[in-house]
Formats: sequence, C-alpha cells, structure tokens
Amino acid sequence: MSTSSSCQSSTLKLGIIGFGPFAQFLAKTMIKQGHTLRATSRSDHSQLCQDLGISYFRDAITFLEADNDVILICTSILSLPEVLKSMPLHGLKRQTLFADVLSVKEYPRDLLLKGCRMLEMSCEEHDKMAARSQFLTHTIGRVLSEMEIKSTPISTKGFESLVQLKEGTVKDSFDLFSGLFLCNRFAKEELKNLEISFEKVKLKLLDMMNVRQDINDSNL
Ligand SMILES: NC(=O)c1ccc[n+]([C@@H]2O[C@H](COP(=O)([O-])OP(=O)(O)OC[C@H]3O[C@@H](n4cnc5c(N)ncnc54)[C@H](OP(=O)(O)O)[C@@H]3O)[C@@H](O)[C@H]2O)c1
Repeated sequence: MSTSSSCQSSTLKLGIIGFGPFAQFLAKTMIKQGHTLRATSRSDHSQLCQDLGISYFRDAITFLEADNDVILICTSILSLPEVLKSMPLHGLKRQTLFADVLSVKEYPRDLLLKGCRMLEMSCEEHDKMAARSQFLTHTIGRVLSEMEIKSTPISTKGFESLVQLKEGTVKDSFDLFSGLFLCNRFAKEELKNLEISFEKVKLKLLDMMNVRQDINDSNL
C-alpha cells in the first residue's frame, strides 16, 4: 500500500465521520481503550465531544487532513459525505467493519477490534440474516408507529414488547432504515414475504368469519 504509513503505537488516532448514536457508542468504548479520538459530522456535536474528550471538527476537510491512523465512517451508506468522494483515496485500504473503516495507515487490527466478537461469513449470508432480523424489526416497528400504538392499563407483556419495539426503532434515523432497505437486495424479498404472510393470516381470519356466518345461517 503505497500511500499509507505504518502505525507503531499500542493505541490509535481514530477519526470518526458521522457522530450519530452508533458512533457515540463506539467512541465511548474506544476512549476507555486509550485511543485518541477526533470526529466530524453534519451537525454541531462539539459540546458532546468536549464532554467525552474528543476533538470536534466542524470542517470535514481539516478533519481529513489531520493525522488519523484509521477513519471510521459512521454515516448511513446513503449519506456518505461528498467530501470523501473528492478525497485522494486511491491506494488506501478499505475494510468493511462497523459502518465502514478507512485505513489511512497500516495498523494492528487487534487494536481496533479489542473486545469485539468477530463472526466470519460471506456478504450474502450477512445480508440475508440482516434482512430477516434487523430490517424486519425496523419495518414492524415503523408500521406499529404508523398505527400510533401506546401502552394501555390492560397491556400484556407481549404488547408492551411491541410498544418498546416501536419506541426503539423510531428513535433510529430514517436514513438508517432506508439504507437497510435500499442497500440489501434480500430486504426487498423480506418486505414481499411480510406482505404475503400478512395476507395469509388475514385470509385465515376471514375464512373463520365465513364458517361462522354459514353456521348462523344454517341455524335460522
Ligand atoms: N455493524 C454494526 O454492528 C452496526 C451497528 C449499528 C449501526 N451500524 C451502521 O453505522 C452507521 C451509523 O448508524 P447510526 O445508527 O448512528 O445512524 P444515524 O442515526 O443515521 O447517524 C449517522 C450520523 O451521520 C451523520 N451524517 C449523515 N450524513 C453526513 C454527512 N454527509 N457528513 C457528515 N456526517 C453525516 C449524521 O449527522 P448529524 O451530524 O446531523 O447528527 C448522523 O449523526 C449506519 O450505516 C449503520 O448501519 C452498524
């Protein structure tokens, strides 16, 4: 890798692009591990960064010019900053991790992955699983939000789980949700499966209604 130099230290200088919930979660862990952090984002997160001991850059270009060992891209895939497209990225090593990692220098991967459990799988396996789990969860949560479900005095545990699911998923950005759909071909299949399954359940109920009607009619 011609453009990258080597990182010798036992801690890293990490740059974060996009300071949303996931980046904030990562940042807190990585600070505890002794890494030095700097961040940039679309809005102003300078106060939060100051509280966490992170240098915040309003200007993405200045951020990119700083001496980062590794850059963690924590925006949704769909909102990848324009500035990255204009950067001289040729020759840099890209590895998919978290949202995405841009390795500016050679670095020991174990340093960044300290405390992480790595699962090896193909992209296809990952995307199928993500569509079945993450995308489905977010879709159901958003449907429940459209229905404006709320706790009631007679809520069951099951219903309370649905309310929690709704509240958890709508806290996440729509950028994130649409990214789960648009960037994963299996998500489209899963959406279709959901529609078909809903129709099947509805038909079973309607069948029962017809059976009941027939019984009532025969009793007349
Ligand atoms: N691998 C995993 O285990 C895992 C887990 C969770 C999330 N993720 C991934 O991590 C990414 C972030 O997740 P999230 O939940 O934090 O998403 P999010 O709520 O959409 O946050 C993304 C952040 O990026 C900032 N941003 C958006 N466009 C930008 C731009 N052009 N330039 C600079 N900053 C920009 C946003 O701006 P503001 O500055 O306006 O806030 C926002 O804070 C997603 O791709 C998600 O899929 C991966």
